[in-house]
Amino acid sequence: MDSRRVHTPSSVLVTGGAGFIGANFIRYLLDTAGFDGRVVNLDKLTYAGNLKSLVDVQERLGGKSYFFERGDICDYERVLEIFNTHAVDTVVHFAAESHVDRSIYGPKDFIETNVNGTFTLLEAARRAWGERKDVRFHHVSTDEVYGSLAETGSFTETSPYDPHSPYSASKAASDHLARAYSHTYGLPVSISNCSNNYGPYQFPEKLIPLMLLNALEGKPLPVYGDGGNVRDWLYVEDHCEAVWKVVTEGSAGETYNIGGECEKRNTDVVGELCDVLEELSPVRENPSVKVDSYRELITFVADRPGHDRRYAIDCEKIKSELGWQRRHEFSDALRSTVRWYLENKEWTADVRSGEYLRWVEKNYGARP
Ligand code: NAD
Ligand code: TYD
Repeated sequence: MDSRRVHTPSSVLVTGGAGFIGANFIRYLLDTAGFDGRVVNLDKLTYAGNLKSLVDVQERLGGKSYFFERGDICDYERVLEIFNTHAVDTVVHFAAESHVDRSIYGPKDFIETNVNGTFTLLEAARRAWGERKDVRFHHVSTDEVYGSLAETGSFTETSPYDPHSPYSASKAASDHLARAYSHTYGLPVSISNCSNNYGPYQFPEKLIPLMLLNALEGKPLPVYGDGGNVRDWLYVEDHCEAVWKVVTEGSAGETYNIGGECEKRNTDVVGELCDVLEELSPVRENPSVKVDSYRELITFVADRPGHDRRYAIDCEKIKSELGWQRRHEFSDALRSTVRWYLENKEWTADVRSGEYLRWVEKNYGARP
């Protein structure tokens, strides 16, 4: 056993495991991390939850080390039943409404799932675990809780909270609740705040997959405002590895920032994406594109209301305390992400057409 290990999970409840990071995390646990216990995926299967991301995992390991439980994290009885049925000793809580633009136009679901859902999970954990200390509740959060930066500086774990969008406000509220359960009830809670992720299985409403799929169809690439907003980018697998490190080696009661040390302006991300696409799927071979290069599709559109200017993460704590270090470099990981989307056109077609929602209904019944 690793000498750094402070918690040894045997039954891990992954909430939101059918979403982008959750699905990658389940794959990481079962295929890469060598975890040999039980993984339970609790997901409501909203528009963002796609079980097709895990079809092969279900086929290989379903009913053995992998279990899918459809349900809403806001449903206390259902959550408690899952804790008991699977003897859950570890929660890795990804389930959330996650898209800033949606939160601007319809914040209600964000409050319901991100705030009430997290509260419900914490209550169920407290009930199921009592005073146990050989358990862990890991809450996955975002750097957006810290607000927006000017041209210099970066967020540390002690930066004051200053969320600006309904999404980040709801995540901030959930972070506060998780921390309060640690302080008040002694629940073994850890928290991580991560920057923008990219990689396979990301729903094409987020910047990189949205631009990628639009470009392939010859549609405009809508860059908000002047495109000078800066985000820090981290490949999803590096995030998964960091979360597992915090769960197993990080102390309860602690918060860790996770970042890619890879700040980029949106225009630079979209420009680089166009260049990679040109290399892997040249415009001249793509009958859907009527211009001479993908870059010509870039279109500046009205800015997002309250658009945060810059995020940057100081991740020294997880690096020095837990020895975590990102493994993937942006240009290489962007290329493999583009390749994945090119090779998985059925997944993206299903997601975009809503076909996968019909598939979910057929196989798992109507939404709860
Ligand atoms: P996602 O939108 O791709 O997936 C969310 C998943 O949660 C979906 O499978 C959805 O069906 C499920 N879900 C939603 N409401 C639910 C409910 N009430 N009960 C059960 N399941 C429900 O999100 P993501 O991008 O994978 O993000 C996962 C987590 O990581 C979120 O908590 C998000 O705040 C955080 N995060 C994301 C990023 C990023 O760049 N994507 C960065 C930092 C932190
Ligand atoms: P997004 O992927 O929505 O993540 P977040 O808002 O959580 O950072 O957006 C990343 C950046 O890209 C953000 O500055 C907004 C910008 N953006 C666009 O310019 N156009 C788009 O169509 C989208 C979805 C995002």
